[in-house]
Amino acid sequence: MPNITDVAILGATGSIGTSALNVIRLHPDRFNVVGLSAWHRTEALAALVGELSPRIAAVSTEHVDAFRAQFRGTGGDVTLLGGSAGLKAVAEYPRADTVVAGISGAAGLESTFAAVDAGKRILIANKEPLVMCGGLLRKEARRSGACLLPIDSEHNAIFQCLPEALQQSVANGLGVRGTDNGTGVERLTLTASGGPFLRTSAADLRQVGPKDALQHPTWDMGPKISVDSATLMNKGLELIEACTLFGLDETQVEVVIHPQSALHSVVHFSDGSLIGQMANPDMRVPIAYGLAYPERIASGVHGLDFMTLGRLEFESPDSERFPCLELARAAAREGGSVPTALNAANEIAVQAFLAGRLGFCQIPVLIRDIMDHHNKVSVKELGQVLEIDREVRQRASKMLADGIPAS
Ligand SMILES: NC(=O)c1ccc[n+]([C@@H]2O[C@H](COP(=O)([O-])OP(=O)(O)OC[C@H]3O[C@@H](n4cnc5c(N)ncnc54)[C@H](OP(=O)(O)O)[C@@H]3O)[C@@H](O)[C@H]2O)c1
Repeated sequence: MPNITDVAILGATGSIGTSALNVIRLHPDRFNVVGLSAWHRTEALAALVGELSPRIAAVSTEHVDAFRAQFRGTGGDVTLLGGSAGLKAVAEYPRADTVVAGISGAAGLESTFAAVDAGKRILIANKEPLVMCGGLLRKEARRSGACLLPIDSEHNAIFQCLPEALQQSVANGLGVRGTDNGTGVERLTLTASGGPFLRTSAADLRQVGPKDALQHPTWDMGPKISVDSATLMNKGLELIEACTLFGLDETQVEVVIHPQSALHSVVHFSDGSLIGQMANPDMRVPIAYGLAYPERIASGVHGLDFMTLGRLEFESPDSERFPCLELARAAAREGGSVPTALNAANEIAVQAFLAGRLGFCQIPVLIRDIMDHHNKVSVKELGQVLEIDREVRQRASKMLADGIPAS
């Protein structure tokens, strides 16, 4: 009989949160949910609180009174909190052994940091904090003894392909330490589906809107990451995430378009071997791996059938139609506060695109302009990162108000 793992889920009402809960529901003898968070969707969170009886739950400050009102008189003993203090309280809740970081965007930074600070085992889907200040998070993990388990599918695939000693090194915030230390890891290939506009002409890309961008061909995800997948910024963020998590240089991480989304990434070893991980494109697979690591448990996802799959195709990304990937690569090369600026500009651009205030092809124009005018500094502590994020958002919002030229 396995020990019960107490789990807190940040972003429980989102796509990652839902997938995590679906795996957890398959294993009631193994996992116990002690903390949950959402932001606006308080009814959905209230339903989860009713079902799972966590000890602590948090929503936005704006919604916390209405959220509490739903539980008045029910006699439950759940602590209901609001705002970023509430998120942090869930992240560092003493009874939680494992924290699933499933908030979307920079909004997850402080709670992820709090979970790392508290020495938790953290299943990291929320890639933006790693992009903004992955070095700081790794340093903090080394100090606190936190265990970082990547569950973004590509990074989880890479993690699965590493020998156990290197897995431990990555989880402890040490990375794989480059090519010349006998680990044999030379480089990584991140695969990308290519998103909904893989075959869309440059002319037609000028006309696409939010509805088109949200129709991802292989993955079912939240709106922000779906738009990022359509621009290929998601792969750019993942490139920075890979450099951070595995301690590699950007020249050691290549991106390949693989429309079937069956091979989730590959590690190239010095003897010429390539080891990759394959599965149906369903986040329950990496989440189940992270939840039970180092054991394997049922995720509810069927294995791949090669005959149904038929073939695996690979092609190079088109940086003319999708400039965001190269912008992210440039940010990875520059380092310091440049990835923080890239991420903040991208979040503002994606919000504006979803709200119909910015064209699809203007997204990279805004980001490039922000990067061109950003004064790089080295990133030393969380407060500084939050300040840079705030400043860039202000500048990007002003640019939007002044009008962004067509690309
Ligand atoms: N979805 C995927 O398949 C996938 C795959 C790999 C990596 N990821 C990464 O995982 C993260 C989550 O993605 P997702 O697709 O699950 O996003 P999502 O479906 O949009 O869910 C986001 C979650 O975060 C909460 N949230 C939204 N704004 C917040 C704020 N300001 N403060 C605190 N919580 C907030 C949401 O609460 P409400 O519901 O109340 O708004 C929701 O629970 C992202 O970083 C993404 O890049 C996702």
